[in-house]
Amino acid sequence: MKETTRSMKGLILFCSVAAVWLQAAVGLPLHTDSRWIVDEEGQRVKLRCVNWVSHLEAVVAEGLSKQPIDEISNRIESFGFNCVRLTWPLFLATNDSLNSLTVRQSFQRLGLAEAIAGIQANNPFIIDLPLIKAFEAVVGKLGEGKLMVILDNHISKPGWCCSNFDGNGFFGDQYFSPELWIKGLTRMAAMFNGVAHVVGMSLRNELRGPKQNVNDWYRYMQRGAEAVHSANPDVLIILSGLSFDRDLSFLKNQPINLTFTAKLVYEVHWYGFSDGSSWESGNSNQVCGRVTNNLMKMSGFILEQGFPLFISEFGVDQRGTNINDNRYLSCFLSVAAEFDLDWALWTLVGSYYLREGVVGLNEFYGILDWNWCSLRNSSFLQRISALQSPFQGPGLEERRQYNVIFHPLTGLCVVRKSLLDPLKLGPCVDSDPWYYTPQKFLTLKGTYFCIQAEEMGKQAKLGIICTVSNAKWDMISDSKMHLSSKVSNGSMVCLDVDSSTNEIVTNSCKCLGRDSACDPSSQWFKLVNSTRSLGRARSMVSMVGSSLGNVVTKFVELGYGST
Ligand SMILES: *[C@@H]1O[C@H](CO)[C@@H](O)[C@H](O)[C@H]1NC(C)=O
Ligand SMILES: *[C@@H]1O[C@H](CO)[C@@H](O)[C@H](O)[C@H]1NC(C)=O
Ligand SMILES: *[C@@H]1O[C@H](CO)[C@@H](O)[C@H](O)[C@H]1NC(C)=O
Repeated sequence: MKETTRSMKGLILFCSVAAVWLQAAVGLPLHTDSRWIVDEEGQRVKLRCVNWVSHLEAVVAEGLSKQPIDEISNRIESFGFNCVRLTWPLFLATNDSLNSLTVRQSFQRLGLAEAIAGIQANNPFIIDLPLIKAFEAVVGKLGEGKLMVILDNHISKPGWCCSNFDGNGFFGDQYFSPELWIKGLTRMAAMFNGVAHVVGMSLRNELRGPKQNVNDWYRYMQRGAEAVHSANPDVLIILSGLSFDRDLSFLKNQPINLTFTAKLVYEVHWYGFSDGSSWESGNSNQVCGRVTNNLMKMSGFILEQGFPLFISEFGVDQRGTNINDNRYLSCFLSVAAEFDLDWALWTLVGSYYLREGVVGLNEFYGILDWNWCSLRNSSFLQRISALQSPFQGPGLEERRQYNVIFHPLTGLCVVRKSLLDPLKLGPCVDSDPWYYTPQKFLTLKGTYFCIQAEEMGKQAKLGIICTVSNAKWDMISDSKMHLSSKVSNGSMVCLDVDSSTNEIVTNSCKCLGRDSACDPSSQWFKLVNSTRSLGRARSMVSMVGSSLGNVVTKFVELGYGST
Protein backbone atom coordinates (compact mmCIF):
# COMPACT_ATOMS: atom_id res chain seq x y z
CA MET A 1 0.00 0.00 0.00
CA LYS A 2 1.14 3.51 -0.67
CA GLU A 3 2.28 5.83 2.02
CA THR A 4 -0.12 8.54 2.90
CA THR A 5 0.80 12.07 3.71
CA ARG A 6 0.17 13.22 7.22
CA SER A 7 -1.05 16.49 8.53
CA MET A 8 0.30 18.15 11.62
CA LYS A 9 -3.11 18.41 13.13
CA GLY A 10 -3.95 16.63 16.33
CA LEU A 11 -0.53 16.48 17.93
CA ILE A 12 -0.75 15.09 21.39
CA LEU A 13 -0.19 17.83 23.85
CA PHE A 14 -1.38 16.14 26.99
CA CYS A 15 -0.16 12.91 28.38
CA SER A 16 -3.55 11.36 28.81
CA VAL A 17 -4.59 11.74 25.18
CA ALA A 18 -4.00 8.73 22.99
CA ALA A 19 -3.20 8.89 19.31
CA VAL A 20 -5.99 8.14 16.93
CA TRP A 21 -4.23 7.87 13.61
CA LEU A 22 -4.04 4.64 11.77
CA GLN A 23 -0.90 4.07 9.85
CA ALA A 24 -1.30 2.85 6.31
CA ALA A 25 -0.04 -0.70 6.26
CA VAL A 26 3.25 -1.21 4.51
CA GLY A 27 3.87 -4.47 2.68
CA LEU A 28 6.86 -6.02 4.42
CA PRO A 29 9.64 -7.04 4.13
CA LEU A 30 11.37 -4.05 2.62
CA HIS A 31 14.03 -4.18 -0.03
CA THR A 32 15.88 -1.69 -2.17
CA ASP A 33 15.31 -0.54 -5.72
CA SER A 34 18.40 1.43 -6.71
CA ARG A 35 18.61 4.31 -4.23
CA TRP A 36 15.10 3.81 -2.87
CA ILE A 37 13.75 1.63 -0.08
CA VAL A 38 10.57 -0.05 -1.27
CA ASP A 39 7.91 -2.44 0.03
CA GLU A 40 6.76 -5.77 -1.33
CA GLU A 41 4.84 -4.12 -4.14
CA GLY A 42 7.82 -2.03 -5.10
CA GLN A 43 6.35 1.21 -3.74
CA ARG A 44 8.64 3.61 -1.98
CA VAL A 45 8.69 3.53 1.82
CA LYS A 46 10.46 6.54 3.25
CA LEU A 47 12.09 5.80 6.59
CA ARG A 48 11.22 8.64 8.90
CA CYS A 49 12.51 7.30 12.16
CA VAL A 50 13.39 8.43 15.62
CA ASN A 51 16.25 6.99 17.69
CA TRP A 52 15.24 5.31 20.93
CA VAL A 53 18.15 4.59 23.23
CA SER A 54 18.42 1.15 24.81
CA HIS A 55 22.19 0.70 25.06
CA LEU A 56 23.13 2.46 28.31
CA GLU A 57 24.17 0.72 31.55
CA ALA A 58 20.66 -0.34 32.50
CA VAL A 59 20.21 -2.03 29.07
CA VAL A 60 16.51 -1.15 29.07
CA ALA A 61 14.78 1.16 26.60
CA GLU A 62 14.82 4.60 28.22
CA GLY A 63 11.68 6.25 29.54
CA LEU A 64 9.76 3.19 30.70
CA SER A 65 9.80 4.58 34.23
CA LYS A 66 8.02 7.71 32.98
CA GLN A 67 5.22 6.55 30.66
CA PRO A 68 3.51 3.33 29.58
CA ILE A 69 5.13 1.98 26.47
CA ASP A 70 1.87 2.00 24.50
CA GLU A 71 1.57 5.73 25.12
CA ILE A 72 5.14 6.31 24.06
CA SER A 73 4.66 4.38 20.86
CA ASN A 74 1.35 6.15 20.14
CA ARG A 75 3.15 9.41 20.55
CA ILE A 76 5.90 8.40 18.15
CA GLU A 77 3.29 7.65 15.52
CA SER A 78 1.28 10.77 16.19
CA PHE A 79 4.41 12.88 15.65
CA GLY A 80 4.56 11.49 12.11
CA PHE A 81 7.37 8.94 12.47
CA ASN A 82 6.93 5.52 10.94
CA CYS A 83 9.89 3.79 12.51
CA VAL A 84 12.23 3.55 15.48
CA ARG A 85 15.97 3.01 15.36
CA LEU A 86 16.34 1.05 18.57
CA THR A 87 19.89 0.88 19.91
CA TRP A 88 21.34 -2.18 21.67
CA PRO A 89 24.70 -3.05 23.14
CA LEU A 90 26.42 -6.14 21.76
CA PHE A 91 26.79 -7.71 25.22
CA LEU A 92 23.01 -7.90 25.50
CA ALA A 93 23.20 -10.61 22.85
CA THR A 94 26.47 -12.27 23.88
CA ASN A 95 26.75 -12.13 27.68
CA ASP A 96 24.27 -14.54 29.22
CA SER A 97 24.94 -13.45 32.79
CA LEU A 98 24.04 -9.91 31.70
CA ASN A 99 21.01 -10.69 29.58
CA SER A 100 19.51 -13.02 32.16
CA LEU A 101 19.39 -10.28 34.80
CA THR A 102 15.84 -9.08 35.24
CA VAL A 103 15.01 -5.45 34.61
CA ARG A 104 14.63 -5.03 38.37
CA GLN A 105 18.03 -6.58 39.07
CA SER A 106 19.65 -4.46 36.40
CA PHE A 107 18.42 -1.27 38.06
CA GLN A 108 19.18 -2.59 41.54
CA ARG A 109 22.84 -3.15 40.71
CA LEU A 110 22.99 0.49 39.56
CA GLY A 111 21.21 1.75 42.68
CA LEU A 112 18.32 3.19 40.68
CA ALA A 113 15.43 2.58 43.05
CA GLU A 114 13.34 5.41 41.67
CA ALA A 115 13.46 3.97 38.17
CA ILE A 116 12.28 0.62 39.52
CA ALA A 117 9.31 2.28 41.18
CA GLY A 118 8.55 4.16 37.94
CA ILE A 119 8.66 1.03 35.82
CA GLN A 120 6.57 -0.83 38.38
CA ALA A 121 3.94 1.89 38.02
CA ASN A 122 4.05 2.47 34.27
CA ASN A 123 5.17 -0.81 32.75
CA PRO A 124 4.74 -3.52 35.38
CA PHE A 125 4.73 -6.28 32.74
CA ILE A 126 8.40 -5.76 32.08
CA ILE A 127 9.90 -5.41 35.55
CA ASP A 128 10.69 -9.08 36.19
CA LEU A 129 11.58 -10.06 32.65
CA PRO A 130 15.19 -10.90 31.84
CA LEU A 131 16.84 -8.05 29.90
CA ILE A 132 16.79 -9.94 26.62
CA LYS A 133 13.07 -10.70 26.99
CA ALA A 134 12.41 -7.11 27.93
CA PHE A 135 14.14 -5.99 24.75
CA GLU A 136 12.03 -8.42 22.75
CA ALA A 137 8.90 -7.11 24.48
CA VAL A 138 9.75 -3.50 23.60
CA VAL A 139 10.27 -4.44 19.95
CA GLY A 140 6.97 -6.31 20.03
CA LYS A 141 5.09 -3.33 21.46
CA LEU A 142 6.44 -1.06 18.75
CA GLY A 143 5.05 -3.47 16.17
CA GLU A 144 1.64 -3.37 17.79
CA GLY A 145 1.89 0.38 17.35
CA LYS A 146 2.50 -0.30 13.64
CA LEU A 147 5.97 1.15 13.83
CA MET A 148 8.84 -0.38 11.90
CA VAL A 149 11.99 -1.11 13.86
CA ILE A 150 15.65 -0.91 12.92
CA LEU A 151 17.93 -2.66 15.38
CA ASP A 152 21.11 -0.68 15.77
CA ASN A 153 24.16 -2.31 17.34
CA HIS A 154 25.34 0.88 18.97
CA ILE A 155 28.23 -0.23 21.16
CA SER A 156 29.58 -3.44 22.81
CA LYS A 157 29.79 -2.62 26.51
CA PRO A 158 26.63 -0.92 27.75
CA GLY A 159 27.18 2.80 28.28
CA TRP A 160 27.13 6.17 26.57
CA CYS A 161 28.71 6.25 23.14
CA CYS A 162 31.04 7.30 21.43
CA SER A 163 34.64 8.34 21.80
CA ASN A 164 37.83 7.38 19.99
CA PHE A 165 39.23 5.71 23.09
CA ASP A 166 36.28 3.93 24.71
CA GLY A 167 37.40 0.47 23.60
CA ASN A 168 34.27 0.07 21.45
CA GLY A 169 35.42 1.94 18.35
CA PHE A 170 36.79 -0.58 15.89
CA PHE A 171 37.42 -4.27 15.28
CA GLY A 172 40.13 -5.40 17.67
CA ASP A 173 39.46 -2.78 20.35
CA GLN A 174 39.19 -3.94 23.95
CA TYR A 175 35.43 -4.61 23.81
CA PHE A 176 35.13 -5.16 20.09
CA SER A 177 36.11 -8.67 19.10
CA PRO A 178 35.02 -9.32 15.52
CA GLU A 179 34.10 -12.93 16.35
CA LEU A 180 31.92 -11.93 19.28
CA TRP A 181 30.33 -9.21 17.17
CA ILE A 182 29.38 -11.70 14.45
CA LYS A 183 28.01 -14.07 17.07
CA GLY A 184 25.91 -11.31 18.63
CA LEU A 185 24.60 -10.03 15.29
CA THR A 186 23.67 -13.56 14.31
CA ARG A 187 21.76 -14.13 17.53
CA MET A 188 19.90 -10.86 17.27
CA ALA A 189 19.04 -11.42 13.60
CA ALA A 190 17.80 -14.95 14.33
CA MET A 191 15.78 -13.83 17.32
CA PHE A 192 13.76 -11.48 15.12
CA ASN A 193 13.53 -13.73 12.10
CA GLY A 194 9.83 -13.84 11.28
CA VAL A 195 9.08 -10.59 13.15
CA ALA A 196 7.97 -8.63 10.10
CA HIS A 197 8.15 -5.12 11.51
CA VAL A 198 11.85 -5.50 12.29
CA VAL A 199 12.83 -4.19 8.88
CA GLY A 200 16.53 -3.51 9.20
CA MET A 201 19.70 -3.95 11.18
CA SER A 202 22.45 -1.35 11.51
CA LEU A 203 25.46 -3.59 11.94
CA ARG A 204 27.57 -1.17 13.95
CA ASN A 205 27.29 2.44 14.95
CA GLU A 206 30.05 5.02 14.38
CA LEU A 207 33.19 3.01 13.66
CA ARG A 208 36.12 5.08 14.85
CA GLY A 209 39.37 5.27 16.72
CA PRO A 210 43.06 4.65 16.11
CA LYS A 211 42.55 1.11 14.82
CA GLN A 212 40.12 1.99 12.06
CA ASN A 213 41.21 1.01 8.56
CA VAL A 214 39.61 0.26 5.22
CA ASN A 215 40.86 -3.34 4.84
CA ASP A 216 39.33 -4.49 8.09
CA TRP A 217 36.16 -2.60 7.22
CA TYR A 218 35.66 -4.75 4.11
CA ARG A 219 36.80 -7.95 5.81
CA TYR A 220 34.43 -7.73 8.77
CA MET A 221 31.52 -5.80 7.30
CA GLN A 222 31.23 -8.39 4.54
CA ARG A 223 31.27 -11.19 7.10
CA GLY A 224 28.82 -9.42 9.40
CA ALA A 225 26.45 -8.68 6.54
CA GLU A 226 26.51 -12.29 5.31
CA ALA A 227 25.97 -13.60 8.84
CA VAL A 228 22.92 -11.40 9.38
CA HIS A 229 21.55 -12.23 5.96
CA SER A 230 21.85 -15.97 6.64
CA ALA A 231 20.14 -15.67 10.01
CA ASN A 232 17.40 -13.35 8.78
CA PRO A 233 17.08 -12.75 5.03
CA ASP A 234 14.23 -10.27 5.51
CA VAL A 235 16.09 -7.37 7.11
CA LEU A 236 17.77 -4.51 5.32
CA ILE A 237 21.49 -4.58 6.04
CA ILE A 238 22.60 -1.11 7.04
CA LEU A 239 26.32 -0.31 7.01
CA SER A 240 28.09 2.57 8.65
CA GLY A 241 31.34 4.08 7.40
CA LEU A 242 34.48 5.16 9.23
CA SER A 243 35.19 8.24 11.36
CA PHE A 244 31.98 8.28 13.38
CA ASP A 245 29.81 7.34 10.43
CA ARG A 246 30.94 10.23 8.29
CA ASP A 247 33.20 8.56 5.75
CA LEU A 248 32.10 6.14 3.04
CA SER A 249 34.50 7.61 0.48
CA PHE A 250 36.48 4.36 0.12
CA LEU A 251 33.44 2.80 -1.59
CA LYS A 252 34.03 5.04 -4.59
CA ASN A 253 36.81 2.78 -5.80
CA GLN A 254 36.06 -0.56 -4.25
CA PRO A 255 32.54 -1.91 -3.97
CA ILE A 256 31.67 -4.34 -1.22
CA ASN A 257 31.20 -7.98 -2.33
CA LEU A 258 28.05 -9.62 -1.06
CA THR A 259 26.15 -12.73 -2.12
CA PHE A 260 22.77 -11.01 -1.89
CA THR A 261 21.28 -7.99 -3.63
CA ALA A 262 18.56 -5.40 -3.06
CA LYS A 263 19.07 -5.35 0.72
CA LEU A 264 22.00 -3.03 1.28
CA VAL A 265 21.64 0.48 2.71
CA TYR A 266 24.40 2.84 3.84
CA GLU A 267 24.06 5.15 6.80
CA VAL A 268 25.64 8.46 7.68
CA HIS A 269 25.50 10.77 10.70
CA TRP A 270 25.39 14.52 10.39
CA TYR A 271 25.19 16.96 13.30
CA GLY A 272 26.10 20.61 13.76
CA PHE A 273 29.04 19.57 15.92
CA SER A 274 30.27 17.19 13.21
CA ASP A 275 32.03 20.30 11.89
CA GLY A 276 33.08 21.62 15.29
CA SER A 277 31.90 25.17 15.77
CA SER A 278 32.23 26.07 12.08
CA TRP A 279 28.61 27.12 11.86
CA GLU A 280 28.89 29.63 14.63
CA SER A 281 32.31 30.97 13.69
CA GLY A 282 31.76 31.15 9.93
CA ASN A 283 29.38 32.69 7.45
CA SER A 284 26.38 30.37 7.11
CA ASN A 285 26.25 30.56 3.30
CA GLN A 286 29.87 29.57 3.03
CA VAL A 287 29.72 26.88 5.70
CA CYS A 288 26.57 25.33 4.22
CA GLY A 289 28.12 25.28 0.75
CA ARG A 290 31.37 23.77 1.99
CA VAL A 291 29.88 21.21 4.35
CA THR A 292 27.33 20.06 1.77
CA ASN A 293 30.02 19.56 -0.88
CA ASN A 294 32.03 17.60 1.59
CA LEU A 295 29.05 15.44 2.52
CA MET A 296 28.47 14.61 -1.14
CA LYS A 297 32.10 13.58 -1.52
CA MET A 298 32.25 11.54 1.65
CA SER A 299 28.86 9.81 1.51
CA GLY A 300 26.27 11.45 -0.75
CA PHE A 301 27.80 9.91 -3.89
CA ILE A 302 26.46 6.57 -2.69
CA LEU A 303 23.04 7.53 -4.12
CA GLU A 304 24.54 7.65 -7.60
CA GLN A 305 25.97 4.21 -7.03
CA GLY A 306 22.40 3.01 -6.58
CA PHE A 307 22.17 2.54 -2.81
CA PRO A 308 19.88 4.25 -0.33
CA LEU A 309 21.60 6.66 2.07
CA PHE A 310 20.00 6.70 5.52
CA ILE A 311 20.85 9.67 7.73
CA SER A 312 20.52 7.54 10.82
CA GLU A 313 21.39 10.38 13.21
CA PHE A 314 20.80 14.10 13.02
CA GLY A 315 19.42 16.48 15.59
CA VAL A 316 19.72 19.73 17.47
CA ASP A 317 19.41 21.19 20.92
CA GLN A 318 15.66 21.76 20.94
CA ARG A 319 15.81 24.77 23.20
CA GLY A 320 16.93 26.79 20.18
CA THR A 321 19.78 28.37 22.15
CA ASN A 322 22.69 26.71 20.36
CA ILE A 323 23.62 28.94 17.42
CA ASN A 324 25.83 26.31 15.86
CA ASP A 325 22.95 23.81 15.86
CA ASN A 326 20.39 26.34 14.63
CA ARG A 327 22.43 27.32 11.60
CA TYR A 328 23.27 23.73 10.76
CA LEU A 329 19.63 22.68 10.94
CA SER A 330 18.46 24.89 8.06
CA CYS A 331 21.27 23.61 5.88
CA PHE A 332 20.64 20.00 6.90
CA LEU A 333 16.93 20.26 6.13
CA SER A 334 17.60 21.68 2.68
CA VAL A 335 19.90 18.78 1.80
CA ALA A 336 17.62 16.12 3.28
CA ALA A 337 14.72 17.57 1.26
CA GLU A 338 16.68 18.00 -1.96
CA PHE A 339 17.83 14.37 -1.99
CA ASP A 340 14.67 13.11 -0.32
CA LEU A 341 16.77 11.02 2.06
CA ASP A 342 15.62 8.48 4.60
CA TRP A 343 16.42 9.58 8.14
CA ALA A 344 16.30 9.00 11.89
CA LEU A 345 16.15 11.88 14.33
CA TRP A 346 18.35 11.87 17.41
CA THR A 347 16.43 11.41 19.70
CA LEU A 348 13.10 10.40 21.20
CA VAL A 349 14.58 10.39 24.70
CA GLY A 350 13.40 13.11 27.08
CA SER A 351 15.65 11.98 29.92
CA TYR A 352 17.82 8.98 30.80
CA TYR A 353 17.70 6.63 33.78
CA LEU A 354 21.45 7.14 34.06
CA ARG A 355 23.82 8.65 31.57
CA GLU A 356 27.51 9.30 32.13
CA GLY A 357 27.00 9.02 35.87
CA VAL A 358 24.09 11.45 36.04
CA VAL A 359 20.74 10.09 37.24
CA GLY A 360 17.75 11.46 35.30
CA LEU A 361 19.85 13.45 32.85
CA ASN A 362 17.71 15.82 30.77
CA GLU A 363 18.25 15.28 27.02
CA PHE A 364 18.03 18.63 25.25
CA TYR A 365 18.24 16.89 21.87
CA GLY A 366 15.16 14.87 22.81
CA ILE A 367 11.84 15.45 21.12
CA LEU A 368 10.01 14.57 24.36
CA ASP A 369 10.38 16.57 27.54
CA TRP A 370 11.97 15.32 30.75
CA ASN A 371 8.84 13.46 31.79
CA TRP A 372 8.35 11.83 28.38
CA CYS A 373 5.03 13.58 28.47
CA SER A 374 4.78 16.34 25.90
CA LEU A 375 6.81 17.66 23.05
CA ARG A 376 9.88 19.54 24.18
CA ASN A 377 9.41 22.05 21.38
CA SER A 378 6.41 21.88 19.07
CA SER A 379 7.96 24.20 16.48
CA PHE A 380 10.60 21.57 15.81
CA LEU A 381 8.07 19.11 14.41
CA GLN A 382 6.94 21.70 11.90
CA ARG A 383 10.55 22.08 10.80
CA ILE A 384 10.89 18.40 9.96
CA SER A 385 7.34 17.81 8.74
CA ALA A 386 8.27 18.51 5.12
CA LEU A 387 10.71 15.62 5.27
CA GLN A 388 8.12 13.16 6.47
CA SER A 389 6.31 12.67 3.17
CA PRO A 390 8.38 11.41 0.25
CA PHE A 391 8.71 13.70 -2.76
CA GLN A 392 9.83 11.11 -5.29
CA GLY A 393 10.54 7.46 -5.87
CA PRO A 394 8.82 4.31 -7.07
CA GLY A 395 5.05 4.60 -6.83
CA LEU A 396 5.16 8.38 -6.60
CA GLU A 397 5.21 9.10 -10.28
CA GLU A 398 1.67 10.40 -10.46
CA ARG A 399 2.84 13.62 -12.04
CA ARG A 400 5.63 14.85 -14.22
CA GLN A 401 8.41 16.33 -12.19
CA TYR A 402 7.84 19.76 -10.71
CA ASN A 403 9.48 21.81 -7.98
CA VAL A 404 8.44 22.55 -4.46
CA ILE A 405 9.92 25.80 -3.09
CA PHE A 406 11.02 24.72 0.37
CA HIS A 407 11.88 27.18 3.16
CA PRO A 408 14.03 25.26 5.65
CA LEU A 409 13.89 27.89 8.40
CA THR A 410 10.19 27.23 8.88
CA GLY A 411 9.84 23.78 7.32
CA LEU A 412 7.13 25.26 5.08
CA CYS A 413 6.84 25.82 1.33
CA VAL A 414 5.71 28.61 -0.97
CA VAL A 415 1.99 28.14 -1.58
CA ARG A 416 -0.72 30.14 -3.23
CA LYS A 417 -4.36 30.02 -2.25
CA SER A 418 -5.72 31.76 -5.32
CA LEU A 419 -4.66 34.22 -7.95
CA LEU A 420 -5.56 37.18 -5.79
CA ASP A 421 -4.03 36.02 -2.53
CA PRO A 422 -0.40 36.86 -1.86
CA LEU A 423 2.21 34.12 -2.06
CA LYS A 424 2.68 32.68 1.39
CA LEU A 425 4.36 29.92 3.29
CA GLY A 426 2.23 26.88 3.96
CA PRO A 427 2.53 23.11 4.42
CA CYS A 428 4.65 21.56 1.67
CA VAL A 429 1.92 19.01 0.93
CA ASP A 430 -0.15 21.99 -0.28
CA SER A 431 2.56 23.17 -2.63
CA ASP A 432 1.78 24.25 -6.15
CA PRO A 433 3.73 22.69 -9.00
CA TRP A 434 6.45 25.23 -9.68
CA TYR A 435 8.88 24.96 -12.52
CA TYR A 436 12.30 26.60 -12.75
CA THR A 437 12.72 27.23 -16.45
CA PRO A 438 16.01 27.28 -18.34
CA GLN A 439 15.47 31.07 -18.59
CA LYS A 440 15.40 31.10 -14.76
CA PHE A 441 11.74 31.95 -14.42
CA LEU A 442 9.78 30.43 -11.57
CA THR A 443 6.53 29.56 -13.27
CA LEU A 444 3.44 27.86 -12.07
CA LYS A 445 3.40 24.71 -14.16
CA GLY A 446 0.77 24.63 -16.84
CA THR A 447 0.12 28.38 -16.66
CA TYR A 448 1.71 31.58 -17.85
CA PHE A 449 2.23 32.82 -14.31
CA CYS A 450 5.64 33.46 -12.87
CA ILE A 451 6.98 34.95 -9.64
CA GLN A 452 8.06 38.56 -9.98
CA ALA A 453 9.86 40.99 -7.71
CA GLU A 454 7.99 44.27 -7.40
CA GLU A 455 9.76 46.52 -4.97
CA MET A 456 12.28 46.22 -2.18
CA GLY A 457 10.41 45.34 0.99
CA LYS A 458 7.16 44.49 -0.84
CA GLN A 459 5.35 41.27 -1.66
CA ALA A 460 6.58 39.17 -4.54
CA LYS A 461 3.75 38.79 -7.06
CA LEU A 462 2.53 36.40 -9.67
CA GLY A 463 2.56 38.03 -13.10
CA ILE A 464 2.35 36.94 -16.70
CA ILE A 465 5.06 39.06 -18.30
CA CYS A 466 7.87 36.66 -17.63
CA THR A 467 10.48 38.06 -19.92
CA VAL A 468 11.68 40.98 -17.85
CA SER A 469 14.55 41.08 -15.40
CA ASN A 470 12.34 41.11 -12.31
CA ALA A 471 11.06 37.64 -13.23
CA LYS A 472 14.50 36.07 -13.53
CA TRP A 473 15.77 34.37 -10.40
CA ASP A 474 19.42 33.49 -9.94
CA MET A 475 20.49 31.08 -7.23
CA ILE A 476 23.28 32.96 -5.55
CA SER A 477 25.72 32.78 -2.60
CA ASP A 478 27.78 29.72 -1.66
CA SER A 479 24.66 28.07 -0.29
CA LYS A 480 22.90 28.59 -3.67
CA MET A 481 19.76 29.09 -1.64
CA HIS A 482 19.21 32.78 -2.20
CA LEU A 483 16.81 33.43 -5.07
CA SER A 484 17.82 36.80 -6.37
CA SER A 485 16.29 39.14 -8.93
CA LYS A 486 16.28 42.84 -9.85
CA VAL A 487 13.54 45.38 -9.19
CA SER A 488 12.72 48.20 -11.60
CA ASN A 489 15.29 50.66 -10.23
CA GLY A 490 17.96 48.04 -10.85
CA SER A 491 18.60 47.02 -7.22
CA MET A 492 19.25 43.39 -6.48
CA VAL A 493 16.74 41.76 -4.13
CA CYS A 494 16.31 38.32 -2.63
CA LEU A 495 13.19 36.34 -1.93
CA ASP A 496 12.42 36.53 1.78
CA VAL A 497 9.59 35.91 4.23
CA ASP A 498 7.74 38.50 6.27
CA SER A 499 7.84 36.74 9.61
CA SER A 500 4.67 38.38 10.91
CA THR A 501 2.45 37.39 7.96
CA ASN A 502 4.40 34.51 6.39
CA GLU A 503 4.03 36.34 3.06
CA ILE A 504 6.73 36.07 0.43
CA VAL A 505 8.49 39.40 -0.01
CA THR A 506 11.71 40.70 -1.54
CA ASN A 507 14.41 42.33 0.55
CA SER A 508 18.04 43.22 0.11
CA CYS A 509 20.11 40.05 0.06
CA LYS A 510 21.59 39.04 3.40
CA CYS A 511 25.02 37.80 4.41
CA LEU A 512 26.59 37.58 0.97
CA GLY A 513 29.95 38.63 2.43
CA ARG A 514 31.96 36.77 5.04
CA ASP A 515 30.13 38.14 8.03
CA SER A 516 29.83 35.39 10.63
CA ALA A 517 27.36 37.24 12.85
CA CYS A 518 24.83 37.33 10.05
CA ASP A 519 22.00 34.80 9.68
CA PRO A 520 20.72 34.44 6.10
CA SER A 521 18.27 31.63 6.73
CA SER A 522 15.04 33.61 6.27
CA GLN A 523 16.19 33.98 2.64
CA TRP A 524 17.07 30.36 2.08
CA PHE A 525 14.82 28.55 -0.37
CA LYS A 526 15.49 25.16 -1.89
CA LEU A 527 13.88 23.99 -5.11
CA VAL A 528 13.05 20.37 -4.44
CA ASN A 529 12.09 17.97 -7.22
CA SER A 530 8.78 16.28 -6.67
CA THR A 531 6.58 13.89 -8.60
CA ARG A 532 3.97 13.19 -5.96
CA SER A 533 0.35 14.01 -6.56
CA LEU A 534 -0.64 17.42 -5.31
CA GLY A 535 -1.94 17.41 -1.78
CA ARG A 536 -5.40 18.59 -2.57
CA ALA A 537 -7.57 19.23 -5.57
CA ARG A 538 -6.58 22.70 -6.57
CA SER A 539 -8.37 25.15 -8.72
CA MET A 540 -5.78 26.34 -11.12
CA VAL A 541 -5.89 29.56 -12.95
CA SER A 542 -5.04 29.66 -16.59
CA MET A 543 -4.74 32.86 -18.47
CA VAL A 544 -5.90 33.26 -21.99
CA GLY A 545 -5.20 36.45 -23.83
CA SER A 546 -2.51 38.32 -25.66
CA SER A 547 -1.89 41.48 -23.73
CA LEU A 548 -2.08 42.48 -20.11
CA GLY A 549 -4.97 44.82 -20.79
CA ASN A 550 -6.92 42.10 -22.42
CA VAL A 551 -6.56 39.24 -20.09
CA VAL A 552 -9.22 36.70 -19.76
CA THR A 553 -8.93 34.70 -16.63
CA LYS A 554 -10.38 31.30 -16.63
CA PHE A 555 -10.57 29.08 -13.62
CA VAL A 556 -9.99 25.51 -14.52
CA GLU A 557 -10.57 22.73 -12.11
CA LEU A 558 -7.70 20.43 -12.80
CA GLY A 559 -8.85 17.91 -10.23
CA TYR A 560 -5.53 16.54 -9.14
CA GLY A 561 -5.89 13.44 -7.07
CA SER A 562 -5.95 14.23 -3.41
CA THR A 563 -4.43 11.82 -0.95
C1 LIG B 1 28.88 -10.10 31.57
O1 LIG B 1 27.96 -9.36 32.34
C2 LIG B 1 28.20 -9.39 33.72
C3 LIG B 1 27.03 -8.71 34.41
O2 LIG B 1 26.92 -7.38 33.98
C4 LIG B 1 29.53 -8.74 34.03
O3 LIG B 1 29.81 -8.78 35.39
C5 LIG B 1 30.63 -9.45 33.24
O4 LIG B 1 31.85 -8.77 33.39
C6 LIG B 1 30.27 -9.51 31.76
N1 LIG B 1 31.22 -10.35 31.06
C7 LIG B 1 31.87 -9.92 29.99
C8 LIG B 1 32.82 -10.91 29.38
O5 LIG B 1 31.74 -8.82 29.52
C1 LIG C 1 35.47 -8.25 -4.63
O1 LIG C 1 35.65 -9.25 -5.59
C2 LIG C 1 36.53 -8.88 -6.65
C3 LIG C 1 36.49 -9.99 -7.72
O2 LIG C 1 36.59 -11.24 -7.10
C4 LIG C 1 37.92 -8.65 -6.10
O3 LIG C 1 38.79 -8.22 -7.12
C5 LIG C 1 37.82 -7.54 -5.04
O4 LIG C 1 39.08 -7.34 -4.43
C6 LIG C 1 36.80 -7.90 -3.98
N1 LIG C 1 36.63 -6.77 -3.10
C7 LIG C 1 36.63 -6.88 -1.80
C8 LIG C 1 36.45 -5.62 -1.03
O5 LIG C 1 36.77 -7.93 -1.22
C1 LIG D 1 11.69 26.09 20.31
O1 LIG D 1 12.58 26.31 19.23
C2 LIG D 1 12.54 27.63 18.74
C3 LIG D 1 13.40 27.67 17.49
O2 LIG D 1 14.68 27.17 17.70
C4 LIG D 1 13.01 28.58 19.82
O3 LIG D 1 13.00 29.89 19.36
C5 LIG D 1 12.10 28.44 21.03
O4 LIG D 1 12.53 29.24 22.08
C6 LIG D 1 12.04 26.99 21.48
N1 LIG D 1 11.05 26.83 22.51
C7 LIG D 1 11.28 26.19 23.65
C8 LIG D 1 10.11 26.07 24.57
O5 LIG D 1 12.36 25.71 23.93
